[in-house]
Amino acid sequence: MSPDISDHVPAGADADRVRIFDTTLRDGEQSPGISLNTQEKVEIAQQLARLGVDVIEAGFPITSPGDFEAVEAIAREVEGPVICGLARTHKADIDAAWSAIKGSERPRIHTFVSTSDIHITHQLQSTREDVKGQARAAVALARSYCEDVEFSPMDATRAELEFTAEVCAIAVAEGATTINIPDTVGYTTPEEYGRYLARLYELVDGLAGVELSVHCHDDLGLAVANSYAGLLAGARQVECAVNGIGERAGNCSLEEIVMLLRTRRDEHGLDTGLDTRELARTSRMVSRFTGYVVQPNKAVVGRNAFAHEAGIHQDGVLKERSTYEIMDARDVGLESNSIVLGKHSGRHALRDALEQLGFKVEGNALNEAFKRFKAIADRKKQVTSLDLEAIVSDQVRDGAQRYELVWVDVQASTRREPRATVAVSMPDGSERLGEAGGDGPVDAIFGAIASATGVEGELRQYTVSAVTEGEDALGEATVMLRAHERLASGQGVATDILEASARAYVRAMSNALEGAAVRMAEGVTAEAATEPATSGP
Ligand code: KIV
Ligand code: ZN
Repeated sequence: MSPDISDHVPAGADADRVRIFDTTLRDGEQSPGISLNTQEKVEIAQQLARLGVDVIEAGFPITSPGDFEAVEAIAREVEGPVICGLARTHKADIDAAWSAIKGSERPRIHTFVSTSDIHITHQLQSTREDVKGQARAAVALARSYCEDVEFSPMDATRAELEFTAEVCAIAVAEGATTINIPDTVGYTTPEEYGRYLARLYELVDGLAGVELSVHCHDDLGLAVANSYAGLLAGARQVECAVNGIGERAGNCSLEEIVMLLRTRRDEHGLDTGLDTRELARTSRMVSRFTGYVVQPNKAVVGRNAFAHEAGIHQDGVLKERSTYEIMDARDVGLESNSIVLGKHSGRHALRDALEQLGFKVEGNALNEAFKRFKAIADRKKQVTSLDLEAIVSDQVRDGAQRYELVWVDVQASTRREPRATVAVSMPDGSERLGEAGGDGPVDAIFGAIASATGVEGELRQYTVSAVTEGEDALGEATVMLRAHERLASGQGVATDILEASARAYVRAMSNALEGAAVRMAEGVTAEAATEPATSGP
């Protein structure tokens, strides 16, 4: 495939510059079991701004009051990137999206409607004519609010190309400034997708004058390859998510496409404006808040992405790094565990260290962070930047928890059944005790929490890992469970892995309860949207 880049780039735009549209907080958040609260979403958005993404799709405001509030907060607080809200073609969606993002200095409305006959017939139960009318009205309305409007013909890669082209032409004529071509179900292949976009350029009047964007899902493991093919065909915006999270198998992974562009610039001449040294930290933050653990062999940000096991590889790298490494770990931020504090470090030193890491922690939050730092510094020789990140993320997660772990007491032995007692603070502020035995100490703790809360959780996934290397490393536990008819995850950090596990379990319970409470208008996700929404937030 040869690069074919210059023809279609809007006048004045930098032909080699690919814009990164991050959809971690919208498509990514649609992954099962992810339920981020507003504070967590704002933290992630701030980190995305530090990373330098061009656009943050902050959410789908019509879907729930929680989503609306988070998009509004991000629009108000996060500076730098364009802040985008998703909307179907319904007036109520577009009104809600605009109300949520209008506080941003650079707002964007992203509206979509399906163009495939499969969706039109079975999901929308409508007609092609109606879809054209919806696209026209939606883009016109969005443009009446906002100068920056993106339009997506959903399921485009399974739609008749000529019809998709007709709908895109309508959107461009009504003033859409970006046309995004979604491979909604991860069906296309690189060659086919490249041809599709090239043909759209031929068929859609005015397409060369607006931004063309790619949005690929990973059902066949081709999301990055397909997105790359789209860029070679002339698109200059790529929609992606940190750690590749998203509906089903996920979206194009942000870190992979960004490093592909950076590393093989010799081949295609393209690059992004990102500070790639922030990639690993962004990945860790998203993993912590979502409970989606990053596999060790994950490209670019996995723990083993730069590890060499075979003797011959180790030997080569020791002699000359480039023998077996095509990227430098420092360029993706994987070797930045630099800040070191000890038990004599004071509040100022902690605040300075957190500021260097990009966290502004003041007042009560700083007192709380300091208390946790001291407790950890008493048991650990050195507190590093990775530890501080873990502590602050853990604190952010404490915001708005419905249940909270007060204490946990465990008796573990290989000779008797382990038993655990816990105290949990309940949503009404009361404190309840629970006690249980189990197959092991963790099982006993989870049973005791279930007995205290009166809620039986069905455990789906449980992992424990160390935040850093060394015997005194902090332990980080992740729990995914089903409770209150919701799948939810939670994480906990502590020097003691049993305490970390208890925290993670209680948080997962809290998130499940929170999710159940806001389920109301939430039946709507982008891919499931069928009916016009009846009420906005
Ligand atoms: O996958 C998809 O089609 C989407 C659209 C809303 C862009 O996420
Ligand atoms: Zn999608």
